Amino acid sequence: MSYETIEVKRVSPHIGALIGGIDLSRTLSNRQVEELHDALDQHLVLFFRDQDLDYDSAKQFGRHFGKLAIHPNTPGPEGHPEILPIHTDANSKLINGERWHSDVSCNEEPSYASILHLKTVPDIGGDTIFASQYAAYDALSPRLKVYLDQLTALHDGGPSYRSSNAKRGIAETGKTYPSAVHPVVRTHPKTGRKALFVNAGFTTRINGLPDREGKALLTFLTEHAARPDFQTRFQWQSGSVAVWDNRFTQHLAIWDYHPQTRSGFRVTVKGDRPI
Ligand code: SIN
Repeated sequence: MSYETIEVKRVSPHIGALIGGIDLSRTLSNRQVEELHDALDQHLVLFFRDQDLDYDSAKQFGRHFGKLAIHPNTPGPEGHPEILPIHTDANSKLINGERWHSDVSCNEEPSYASILHLKTVPDIGGDTIFASQYAAYDALSPRLKVYLDQLTALHDGGPSYRSSNAKRGIAETGKTYPSAVHPVVRTHPKTGRKALFVNAGFTTRINGLPDREGKALLTFLTEHAARPDFQTRFQWQSGSVAVWDNRFTQHLAIWDYHPQTRSGFRVTVKGDRPI
């Protein structure tokens, strides 16, 4: 695919491209937006350097991909409910995204895209790893693909959000968390391409199987989904932005920089019910 308004450089065989020649804080032309959509479809995660977004311009940029979502567990700052602060420092007890996951896959309509902008980064470390779930599905044997095509799984926000709230000392009183049943194999609504759609962060059960068989299958699939040859790893700089497609990827944030600070915010775009 060729691009006229953005520079697109692949960063690994299955996933990821570095995008240049665009200032995300400015009003974007229709053609730029179209090409960003094409690049996201093609590469699944887009990386940008030297950007300077505030909450308003990040939300404006996010709306080019759809309606913005409010996080089910973490309220945004005053006046910006759609902003998810991503902040770790010497006093943090945990980080966001320390298990492989696809953002908010526990929703009936999980997030389509996420846009993360970091302002403060550690001297070294704090990378995010992304894995293509198209590549994960493609690498399975034909027989297993046929079997998985018929299965559904439960994605439950409760265990993950309850555990983060306990570590952060946030009271549980009155809190409820989303959960949803999704196909184990997710299909792109336009291209028909298939991807694995289970993750260690939210998927708690494969439906319709005896407990031990379901657990063993889920363990195999979540390990397979994160194989190094399906991955790319992004080294953040201050001002970097990553935009990823949650439908066909999953990601993991690495906390190897304690006691340094890593700080920024995320905007999340609503998605559709997986098919
Ligand atoms: C997230 O899971 O959205 C956080 C990713 C990161 O901080 O690298």
